[in-house]
Amino acid sequence: MTKARTLYFCSECGYHSPKGIGRCPGCNSWNTLVEEVVGGTGKTSPAPDVKIPFLSELLSDDVPRFSSGNSELDRILGGGIVPGSIILLGGEPGIGKSTLLLQTADSVSRQGKKVLYLTGEESPRQVKMRAERLGIPGDSIYILNDSCLSVLPDYLDKVDPEAVIVDSIQTVYVREISSVPGSVAQLRECAGRIMELAKAEERTFFLVGHVTKDGALAGPKLLEHMVDTVVYFEGDANNYYRLLRTVKNRFGPANEIGILEMSGNGLLPVDNPSRIFLEHRGSLPGLTVVASFEGTRPLLVEVEALVVTTSFGYPRRMASGIESNRLALLAAVLEKRGGLALGNKDIYIKVAGGVNLKDPATDLGIVLAIASSYYERPVLPGGVIIGELGLSGDIRPVPYMNLRMKEAFKLGFSRGLIPKEAGREEPANPGLSVFAVETLGEALRYIDGNGGMDT
Ligand code: TYD
Ligand code: MG
Repeated sequence: MTKARTLYFCSECGYHSPKGIGRCPGCNSWNTLVEEVVGGTGKTSPAPDVKIPFLSELLSDDVPRFSSGNSELDRILGGGIVPGSIILLGGEPGIGKSTLLLQTADSVSRQGKKVLYLTGEESPRQVKMRAERLGIPGDSIYILNDSCLSVLPDYLDKVDPEAVIVDSIQTVYVREISSVPGSVAQLRECAGRIMELAKAEERTFFLVGHVTKDGALAGPKLLEHMVDTVVYFEGDANNYYRLLRTVKNRFGPANEIGILEMSGNGLLPVDNPSRIFLEHRGSLPGLTVVASFEGTRPLLVEVEALVVTTSFGYPRRMASGIESNRLALLAAVLEKRGGLALGNKDIYIKVAGGVNLKDPATDLGIVLAIASSYYERPVLPGGVIIGELGLSGDIRPVPYMNLRMKEAFKLGFSRGLIPKEAGREEPANPGLSVFAVETLGEALRYIDGNGGMDT
């Protein structure tokens, strides 16, 4: 067996050196050398004497799961928590990560499963205060205030918990690596050890991860690759509703959205999510309703646009809930193919409830909101707008038309503006009266008094 030693590897070119250096001599990149422990791990041990099974011999029954106690969290995880899985929960400070996990700890412990809550971020006293606020007695929740993962296996032997909460992954460390907690080397090593602990003894790990200002996990993308499930809190902490999104899930569909409400009693699931993103329901200029498909279900969301004349200089394009490049592109198509003079107009967009709209099927609803504000006239009152917009101004079909329209009908919408192509494969009657359009020009006629329909 070789002796363990520390080497520094360049994450760009693989160059290694016994010392940490600022600039890699191999590829001249700066700050890419990352500490790693090599050898000493018994790499030459013989394999255990067990039969390696064929794929066909494996049992195919569903993975067993247990409930987190929160129906929305269960749903986005694919139907509950899978024992032995690692779930990374990311989000801005103050958005509710610790709250949600303490509530989960409570509910899991009520099912007769022991929970270990490792708090590296807050003192046990602070955790206690949160628990009191939430009315959680915590009879079988163990609180550990030791951030050293080198000793965690020992604690696990003593307590034997089924679920472990690590709050947060940026505060834990292993002794063998000298860099500070939260550094790339520590994160990688800690996540690696947690993986082994989770799989070997079938303990579920919840890891809290902080995100940077631009929404990425503070740490290597690598962390996301190592865990089974990655869940992010979306939107901002000032919003009353909190959105949870699975960006990766080995045990269920990815991109699923869950909606929670921050109340005096912690985070509670919201049962009828579409309803909360529909605030005005009227027929105001600049307001449209889109049917975005999130994970496995449609979500109806209001989009508000405001178009005003630029007072000086460069016209602004500002959006919350829509990526700014996408807005710039949609505005450009609207100008060129829809004939709107937007060159001297500022465009502001706001998506209800802090939802991030990414589904291309919401393109048409977004451009019609802008056009509707531009003309100061409502568009298709009582209607939902679905369709992708091509650069040439063509309205393209999108998947799941029926599910989207059914959801709209269920929520009281009577009409739908949809792509013409989709009309063909619509055997089921969604209940909406549909207006099918092929081009942006046709769609713009559905703005009141704009020459198309009589509403
Ligand atoms: P917290 O869960 O500590 O967030 P994070 O761990 O992501 O940093 O805090 C969530 C916020 O929610 C905090 O500002 C206080 C507030 N809150 C409530 O409104 N109701 C509650 O029942 C609790 C426990 C917290
Ligand atoms: Mg916290």
